[in-house]
Amino acid sequence: MDWFKEMSFYQIWTRSFSDGNGDGIGDLYGVYDKLEYVKSIGVDGIWFSPIYPSPNADYGYDISDYRNIHPDFGTLEQFQKVLNKAHRLGLKIIMDLVVNHTSDEHFWFQESRKGKDNPYSDYYIWRDEPNNWDSLFEGKAWEYDEMRGQYYLHLFSKKQPDLNMDNPKVRQEVKDIMKFWLDMGVDGFREDVINFISKREGLPDGIPFVPAIGGMMHYKDGPHIHEYMAEFRKVAERYHAVQIGEGPMTNLNSAMRYLTGDSKSLDMMISFDHMMADCLFTEYVNLPFSLVRFKHAVSRWQTALNGKSWNVLYLENHDHPRIISRYGNEDFWRESGTMLAICYLFLQGTPFIYQGQEIGMTNIKLPTIDHYKDIASRKNYERFLSFEPPEKRLHRVHVSSRDSARTPMQWDNSKNAGFSPVEPWFYVNPNYKEINVKSQQDNYFSILNIYRRCLALRKKSKTLLHGSYREFYPMHPTLYMYERVYEKIHYLVICSFSEKKQTVTLPKEYQGKKLQLVMYNIAGHEDGSDPVFTPYEARVYRCRFD
Ligand code: GLC
Ligand code: CA
Repeated sequence: MDWFKEMSFYQIWTRSFSDGNGDGIGDLYGVYDKLEYVKSIGVDGIWFSPIYPSPNADYGYDISDYRNIHPDFGTLEQFQKVLNKAHRLGLKIIMDLVVNHTSDEHFWFQESRKGKDNPYSDYYIWRDEPNNWDSLFEGKAWEYDEMRGQYYLHLFSKKQPDLNMDNPKVRQEVKDIMKFWLDMGVDGFREDVINFISKREGLPDGIPFVPAIGGMMHYKDGPHIHEYMAEFRKVAERYHAVQIGEGPMTNLNSAMRYLTGDSKSLDMMISFDHMMADCLFTEYVNLPFSLVRFKHAVSRWQTALNGKSWNVLYLENHDHPRIISRYGNEDFWRESGTMLAICYLFLQGTPFIYQGQEIGMTNIKLPTIDHYKDIASRKNYERFLSFEPPEKRLHRVHVSSRDSARTPMQWDNSKNAGFSPVEPWFYVNPNYKEINVKSQQDNYFSILNIYRRCLALRKKSKTLLHGSYREFYPMHPTLYMYERVYEKIHYLVICSFSEKKQTVTLPKEYQGKKLQLVMYNIAGHEDGSDPVFTPYEARVYRCRFD
């Protein structure tokens, strides 16, 4: 049994979690003090988005030192304290491993720029002439460096030069970084854009005139990816560490090669399919939410991985706006927030909950683009400048910006939402007076307490942990219904995605059976026999089939 399968994780984006030393920036002192809270949600581990030194061109995903802690967040010693306390509380810790690129301020890059006979010369991807690839964040994927007299590749921002993973020394560095953190006691890694690390030899041109992703066929799941991943796997295995890969644009078939068989190199893959039920690639194209699209994506992964591998279950992270504002409904804030929790926490896989999701934080709507800090949001605003009026572009930012997930955590209704005694580094969502941890602690039907009860229920049921998955009514536009089955014990999860009442017909095999209502989100509905579901109502029934 793989240890991570019966767990759930809480993701901390430290800068906005809790400011422990009063400078307006979240830090590891704040995390230390809030570990009991994290534990109280019922999770078993924490994933830290990068907390290493970084000039913050991409808020931590541009790392300038892999073996240290960002001074904004504390010290290595403070990290060790957090780690020890977390372990004492029974919480595992996984770190973000960002090795597709470094910061341009990393020592390796500063050396590499110096010339071709530098020991770090081949740590990055240098060319005399660029190819036609675009960066995913800004303009072309190549930047000319005066000092070196060549162009370097950057799939993300200019300040994130891509490492040359074909260089065995670079791979050795990655393995050494892994060992450094594993020796310190961390329990595994979330591996950033890991399916991009092997680029096709010769870096051929991609499809012309396809913005942003035209070159992707030459670096996604590249020619040597599985060899490199096997090397990293060996290190992780020695420590029984979990490896979770982030696979942007991954599809099920290519994911399977990381997850199963001889090339298995990851325990789980963070897929994006189900996060594209209201968009294409989050910030590029916004579409109306389609439940059918969502269910289709979830069901494909649930079915394909059953018995073969394991899913990451998530609805939010630091790269996506808030889920209530997307797949839920701010007018039915509590109902849709609790329904969304119920809809995904009982799937097969390891749930991830992003800070603030458990209290139903929603998107912020800042008045101008200058208020936003995220490079992707700002560059996308520019990208569409020529053909969309400003209001439309700002609307696009309101619905899709990653910054919506990066506003300070709302702890209580005091000044700055209890996040910091001084003005925080980024805007607090003005709804903090209503939406905060404190106001939900003692309310049985609060979003927070429904998360708690769902995690507790999941943990004590073999069916919910390991059972098979089957979906009913896949084409139904406002109802998501699925069952989990393990031996004789069935669970039936029914979620209404409608702002109107709807009458639900149970699948034939459940009709006339004794159904026990084990989870529900509407006060007064504990009877569970009414076929009419109120807006965003969700119920989970347990049933024994003899
Ligand atoms: C991943 C991260 C994202 C970052 C990008 C580049 O997608 O989750 O935040 O911007 O990689 O590192
Ligand atoms: Ca601080």
